[in-house]
Amino acid sequence: MTDTPRRRVLVLFGGRSSEHSISCVSAAGILRALDPARYDITAVGILPDGRWVRVAADPSALDAVDGRLPIVADSGESAALLPEPVRDRAGLPAGVLQGVDVVFPVLHGPWGEDGTIQGLLEMAGIPYVGSGVFASAAAMDKGHMKAMLAHAGLPVGPWVLVTAREWSADPSECLDRISALGFPLFVKPARAGSSVGITRVADRGALEAAVREAQSWDPRIIAEAAVVGAREIECGVLADPSGVPQASRCAEIVVHPDHDFYDFEAKYLDDGAELVVPADLDPPVEDEVRRLAVRAYDVLDCEGLARVDFFVQPGRVVINEVNTMPGFTPISMYPRMWGASGVDYHELVDRLIDDALRKGTGLR
Ligand SMILES: Nc1ncnc2c1ncn2[C@@H]1O[C@H](COP(=O)(O)OP(=O)(O)O)[C@@H](O)[C@H]1O
Ligand SMILES: [Mg+2]
Repeated sequence: MTDTPRRRVLVLFGGRSSEHSISCVSAAGILRALDPARYDITAVGILPDGRWVRVAADPSALDAVDGRLPIVADSGESAALLPEPVRDRAGLPAGVLQGVDVVFPVLHGPWGEDGTIQGLLEMAGIPYVGSGVFASAAAMDKGHMKAMLAHAGLPVGPWVLVTAREWSADPSECLDRISALGFPLFVKPARAGSSVGITRVADRGALEAAVREAQSWDPRIIAEAAVVGAREIECGVLADPSGVPQASRCAEIVVHPDHDFYDFEAKYLDDGAELVVPADLDPPVEDEVRRLAVRAYDVLDCEGLARVDFFVQPGRVVINEVNTMPGFTPISMYPRMWGASGVDYHELVDRLIDDALRKGTGLR
């Protein structure tokens, strides 16, 4: 037994996005993995309406039971972080969190994975797991992400971005611009996740309804040419102890034919998709995917971790998206890919916390 002080870890989860429940399940996994001998654990849930509450660091309250997805329960005990570096200062209002060494913001989607919480933690001077403000925001927005990757010469498919202002000024021009991609195509909210608001559009007649569906999630939308007949391959990136990104073995998502694509139901509600870890890829193809995953991480300036998703066709590898806080339940792709690469779930959580403490906050 050494006398190293226990690190005070704040696990922050739930949140205002459509991925609230997935975040709860990810947090349950992380709370189970944190060794109480090494960490002093505080859990704070963000309610769907955005209020912060302190909750017991009890993972069993956050598991999915009988297919019902968990949500943060209102404990009635408010919690807050001040946007200024306060350490063990007297006279602060009740509920203000102090003396936190590191935060694990296991939040997916807007108001969490998009640079917003990262900005608050930078202001507070508290190190946190994962990417900083810029990379989080850039990766969250599918339009900006693709523009940055394309600018760096990385392979992404053709896309069209439609802002709220462009749509309200001239919807038919927007529909023409999207249609020029050719059909089938995909229409998506620019900043969402878990496939919410995404439609595969077979012809022009179905396009406007798909645009309006995506806009109901985000006024900013993106359309992409469908990559037909491709395999969906993912790769995990994790910083090594010096902060150098390493790629995991790859995995494949095999979507069952009764689903149009890897939609919300296939992801979470039924057995609509099979995860094959590691993927059965020719070694040169897997090498290429792993190389591109690390390049994408670097181009967006990611930190700590990312999951990079690909479409792989014979002779062609295309990057679909980069997730800076990928699903983190023990059966999620990211931890499973690292499991297949010799890093188990406990070690993954420890390494991410160590990486957060190594990088600290501020310009770096
Ligand atoms: N351009 C595309 N071509 C083919 N399939 C696509 C395309 N874009 C999305 N899909 C399908 O839709 C799913 C969700 O899209 P994605 O962009 O990954 O959104 P999310 O951020 O919600 O995961 C993908 O996993 C894939 O099955
Ligand atoms: Mg995806």
